[in-house]
Amino acid sequence: MTHIVVFDSGLGGLSVLKEVRQACPGAAISYVADTAGFPYGALSEQEVVRRVLATFEAVVARRPPDIAIIACNTASTLVLPFLRASHAFPFVGTVPAVKPAAEQTKSGLISILATPGTVKREYTQALIAAYARDVDVTLVGATGLAALAEAAMRGEPADDKAIAAEIAPAFREKAGARTDTVVLACTHYPLLLDHLRRIAPWPVTWIDPAPAIARRVASLLADRPPAETLSHGDQALFTAIPDTIPDGRTALADLLAGFGLTALDTLPLSAALSGPRAAT
Ligand code: DGL
Repeated sequence: MTHIVVFDSGLGGLSVLKEVRQACPGAAISYVADTAGFPYGALSEQEVVRRVLATFEAVVARRPPDIAIIACNTASTLVLPFLRASHAFPFVGTVPAVKPAAEQTKSGLISILATPGTVKREYTQALIAAYARDVDVTLVGATGLAALAEAAMRGEPADDKAIAAEIAPAFREKAGARTDTVVLACTHYPLLLDHLRRIAPWPVTWIDPAPAIARRVASLLADRPPAETLSHGDQALFTAIPDTIPDGRTALADLLAGFGLTALDTLPLSAALSGPRAAT
């Protein structure tokens, strides 16, 4: 059975997993989250590379995938070359959907809503230079929006005021034109889409790249004979499982079961990564 790994720093990759499951029925999916390192948006580039490489060493030692999806813009804009150099199986990344946004905009004003890390990446600048030369691009590094999405996923009431403050810079008016297209360049944000639509100062097209990523994965798998792997069903592997909130593990397991992930286990990383996180 084909084994697909979907990786993120937290729960954001679940927005991609949903699409991948539909595009690749019958595949076994492991959802891997480096929750001990969340949020990646606040980490130095060196720290993100270190953590993702260590996580994939641990993943491969457990059960190598046939394909891995880095369902995290903050990581994909940085680590794909390192991962591809270290492993023989293919990686599909998630990077800001600048090209479709530039093609779709009518007003000529687009915004890229991402983590502070993704906004700073050379990769993101290169995408804008290559595909959005003729449009006005606003890059918005949202410091707390991924954490707000995680809170909403845990069932906490949405903090509308905080969400509104995070997205406000993405809505611009210039010479009688208004932003009409916002790229969701962090996989956590589509999880908040209902809230974003309700809170936005005016309606815009929100671009979620997950369906395109899922199509890419399905086409790569169609060209590849599946490796001989055992079927374990779908599982979630987290580098840290919350034990501070009462019943944290049970609540998380229930949430993941809603995405078809029926087993939840800890994925321990090397001791070097369990010390204090190095932020930017
Ligand atoms: N979901 C991740 C992304 O797509 C980032 C969240 C974080 O800051 O860890 O960029």
